Amino acid sequence: MTSVPLGLPRLGPARPGPAGGDAAGTADRPALPGLIDRFGRAATDLRVSLTDRCNLRCTYCMPAEGLDWMPSDELLTDDELLRLIRIGTEDLGIDEVRFTGGEPLLRRGIVDLIGRVAALPRRPRQSLTTNALGLVRKAPALAAAGLDRINVSLDTMDPAVFARLTRRDRFGDVIDGLAAAAAAGLTPVKINTVLMRGVNDHEAPELVAFALRHGYQLRFIEQMPLDAQHGWDRTTMVTAAEILERLSAVFTLSPHAAPRDGAPAELFDVLAADGTTGQVGVIASVTRPFCGDCDRTRLTADGQIRNCLFSATETDLRALLRGGADDAAIADVWRGGMWVKLPGHGINDPSFLQPDRPMSAIGG
Ligand code: 5AD
Ligand code: SF4
Repeated sequence: MTSVPLGLPRLGPARPGPAGGDAAGTADRPALPGLIDRFGRAATDLRVSLTDRCNLRCTYCMPAEGLDWMPSDELLTDDELLRLIRIGTEDLGIDEVRFTGGEPLLRRGIVDLIGRVAALPRRPRQSLTTNALGLVRKAPALAAAGLDRINVSLDTMDPAVFARLTRRDRFGDVIDGLAAAAAAGLTPVKINTVLMRGVNDHEAPELVAFALRHGYQLRFIEQMPLDAQHGWDRTTMVTAAEILERLSAVFTLSPHAAPRDGAPAELFDVLAADGTTGQVGVIASVTRPFCGDCDRTRLTADGQIRNCLFSATETDLRALLRGGADDAAIADVWRGGMWVKLPGHGINDPSFLQPDRPMSAIGG
């Protein structure tokens, strides 16, 4: 297999993978078709990053300026992406595709791409994680092309905080984009929220109240060490326990009855004082890792498979695509890249090293 050490030159020197980690071999892999690993997991959910570019600059994700973009000749073309998604769905058991970025709506041709994926013989469910800029115009076409659902990133209900946090004054576009997604039937509309101490952590109840009013499902995501500036600090991170405590002061929360079923979000039924009901989720990636149930495989915009958000190595499918490899060879290398997935992200280990790629170049 072609697992290569990561090392985007602009982000610092390459470093070796962890000892015994995902640089290990695949000789012990049983000959099964799916994207299985040594720990009994099977990846069926493919996250595809369509671009590393974004029209916001969220402080926990990107620096204000100075982050180099991927060279355009290294980005997979729509045909290359479609081929990998076809191989994933036909040969590897992928049944769900989530488009991410950067900001996936910045990718020209996204509507066509979704339409072509929807026309595949084994059509996967398709969703999109977006900052919602431009969604007002694009939501109907995305839905018509075959997009099933949408996740919108929104961290604040205060336009001034939004402008500070994202370094762009676009709060209104996001609110309108959410409404457009719901109107287009891209439901359930989910909201992803990252709380940061002293910035927006006081807004948790207000964000939930907004979501309940509009029928959106909000999920708080613990901030992970994935910022381009490497400024994450676990001592100031707002934990899931803390979020639930804050919410419980305002709402009646009860664990949702349906089984979690491998999903990262722990769901709670919410009852507001005015009788409004709904659900809220907490994704405790750091304090209550769910790596044991992970069913994801990730494809970066430049054609690398990552078996984890935090992996130190990647598997190069672009070189195979461009070198004339057939579907079976590509599928095999993809299988090999997933087989060596580590048991967990290791954020809580003293030896943890943040991946070189920031979130915007991996995809959420
Ligand atoms: N930690 C947690 N979530 C993050 N996101 C981006 N960076 C981080 C981080 N460091 C979220 C965004 C978006 C999704 C793709 O991931 O808010 O909703
Ligand atoms: Fe853009 Fe998403 Fe990163 Fe914010 S978190 S800068 S919206 S890619």
